[in-house]
Amino acid sequence: MNDVVSKLRNLLGSDCITDPAVTDGYLWDWRGLLRGSAACVLRPRSANLLSQSVRICREAGVSIVPQGGNTGLVGGATPDDIGLQIVISTGAMRKIRTVDPVDMSIVAEAGATIAELQTAAAEAGALFPLSFASEGTATLGGALATNAGGISAVRYGSARDLLLGMEVVLPDGRIWNGLRTLRKDNTGYALKYLFAGSEGTLGIITGAAMKLAPLSVGREVAFCAIESEDQVLDFWMKLRAAAEGNVRAIEYISNSCVELAKREGLRAPVGVADHYVLVELTSSRPDAGLKDVLEAFLAERLEDGTIVDAALAQSGEQQKQIWRLRDDQTEIQKKAGRDFKHDVAVPVPRVPELLRRSRAVIESDFPEATVVPFGHVGDGNIHLNVVLPATLGAERAAEQGKQISQAIYDIVLSLGGTFSAEHGIGRAKVDMLEAKRDPIELDLMRRIKAALDEDGSFNPGTVFRPS
Ligand code: FAD
Ligand code: LAC
Ligand code: ZN
Repeated sequence: MNDVVSKLRNLLGSDCITDPAVTDGYLWDWRGLLRGSAACVLRPRSANLLSQSVRICREAGVSIVPQGGNTGLVGGATPDDIGLQIVISTGAMRKIRTVDPVDMSIVAEAGATIAELQTAAAEAGALFPLSFASEGTATLGGALATNAGGISAVRYGSARDLLLGMEVVLPDGRIWNGLRTLRKDNTGYALKYLFAGSEGTLGIITGAAMKLAPLSVGREVAFCAIESEDQVLDFWMKLRAAAEGNVRAIEYISNSCVELAKREGLRAPVGVADHYVLVELTSSRPDAGLKDVLEAFLAERLEDGTIVDAALAQSGEQQKQIWRLRDDQTEIQKKAGRDFKHDVAVPVPRVPELLRRSRAVIESDFPEATVVPFGHVGDGNIHLNVVLPATLGAERAAEQGKQISQAIYDIVLSLGGTFSAEHGIGRAKVDMLEAKRDPIELDLMRRIKAALDEDGSFNPGTVFRPS
């Protein structure tokens, strides 16, 4: 291993890091559940250097763990604890190469953060639509590798839907330059879509070309209190009919989530109810009259009883306060106790049943647990999280957490849903994938993996069990 590290040091100089004080930050997963070990962490500054690094690792039979912003929630960017793997971070590759408001495309290196892409697009008068709470740290490569969704997927789609072209360093070290921005290109298999969602198991994305959208100039945010799960769905159906093209976000938040947020000093702008929905409308037209549309819509919903209270933000500051109730949930829940995450999705019409049945089972069978669901209700994607008190012993919590997850996934699958909507498989859901995915699909996935990564050296243990 010393030999490989010294070759990498010769190639990359100080961008081959072995100092434990520096490598430490690359060895934990965001949730603090996994702690890995690595021979070194590489931060190559170009696709070319990254490709040469991969060749050196391959020749020595050393496995690689690709890492972007390390905000993933399923452990896919964390090496195992043996110390023989090498983390390759895209952190030093963050140039934005072009922003073209005529072509409506942006081309950037994989380590650029989502927030940097949003800013670059806005400066050119366009919108980079992907958005989620970790956007300040999460990278383009990581978002593509996990096919991240987020709060505006309901309007613009997930990362894969915005993808035009890609540059990838393959497990054999070759660089595939597919950085095209064409809207139509039916020239054989659409390889780029294979890498989107592949979680670092098929190659390292070093750059991507992504779609832009027209820049939003108007923005209205409202927070509504709702009494029942069915009314949450009813509200969304009515909003979709009234303002579909303008809905940038429609997010569900349960009262248990709002209660946790209040403990952290946040305030809800409406009276207490069991459920809340956050709505954001945007438009690229200054004359769209979004405020009137939303005001009239909310008045009608109060009138017909779909909602019991509503607050329409009157300033940018109020919009920010409302969004914090939603965006801060992952951080807040991390602190609230032992949190068990279930990033699930069901067909949109089944969301009320999902919420009702899960709550009923957890409340009756696990009295110490608090169900704290929130998420992207317009996509049928609910983060059906459960928090157990920190005072519960680690062993008991782990045992209960397992049973809780089993109960939730059983309900989700019985409703025709999925056990991973937007976070991926990582290391956390490898067994679930194995047990629940159709055998033919699994077989095809394994063949693709074997064809691209013959040695199985790219992110072993993520998506599939290590061989
Ligand atoms: P990392 O965590 O570094 O890596 C994630 C996976 O991608 C790993 O398997 C890694 O090996 C692989 N990878 C990373 N970079 C590359 C690359 N260049 N080439 C190949 N493989 C690579 N996700 C959502 O979908 N929607 C949300 O709303 C959302 N909200 C979040 C909120 C918070 C507070 C947090 C902490 C996370 C959230 N996430 C969300 C999860 C996460 O932020 C996203 O999945 C994000 O896209 C990960 O990007 P990253 O750069 O941090 O990737
Ligand atoms: C969110 C993450 C957890 O939606 O996906 O905040
Ligand atoms: Zn989410």
